[in-house]
Amino acid sequence: METNAQFPLSRRDLLIASASSAAASAVPVSAATPPDAVPSPVRAPVRLSVNGSAHDLDLDTRTTLLDALREHLHLTGTKKGCDHGQCGACTVLVDGRRVVSCLSLAVMHQGAQVTTIEGLGTPAAPHPLQTAFVQHDGYQCGYCTPGQICSAVGALDELRRGAPSHVSADIVAQPMLSAEELRERMSGNLCRCGAYSNIVDAITEVAEAKA
Ligand code: FES
Ligand code: FES
Repeated sequence: METNAQFPLSRRDLLIASASSAAASAVPVSAATPPDAVPSPVRAPVRLSVNGSAHDLDLDTRTTLLDALREHLHLTGTKKGCDHGQCGACTVLVDGRRVVSCLSLAVMHQGAQVTTIEGLGTPAAPHPLQTAFVQHDGYQCGYCTPGQICSAVGALDELRRGAPSHVSADIVAQPMLSAEELRERMSGNLCRCGAYSNIVDAITEVAEAKA
């Protein structure tokens, strides 16, 4: 049998080695070494004040604020649209600021005051924006509407505080109340029914009433 001093394996040795490795890879899955066990989820206590009521939850730390609201507290007014931070349907107010709740973990809001559409108003005593959306036909299917209204609350608060937007001409002056400002500030909230013009009209009416 010939071998080479630089390459000491014979052709026969190589064939045997190849056949062995092929046989090893053909072992049924069930006989293969089992994968490492999936680690148990890490849980943590989370205290939230939602619409004025305190809630103590024990959550998988991967739970989003949206799922905590919908799945654990059964507040289904907040909608899940894309679940990727792209549509704004899940917008709620956290300590007065608007947040896309699908992109935010519940454990990040320990002790926070959360306001959802259910906490803004009731059918008997609606929030002025809820009334204005109805009066101006600011929705069709209504799926985006809770997020639109929570976002509008945040947008009007930003305007009141003088926070500039991307379209503000002067970033140190009080921003003007204009359709352009409102469209920019609401641009994270998509409406597949295309009710944008009526939404702007509704928000404008409430902003002018407060001015
Ligand atoms: Fe959160 Fe679309 S569901 S942004
Ligand atoms: Fe239907 Fe906005 S009212 S998506």
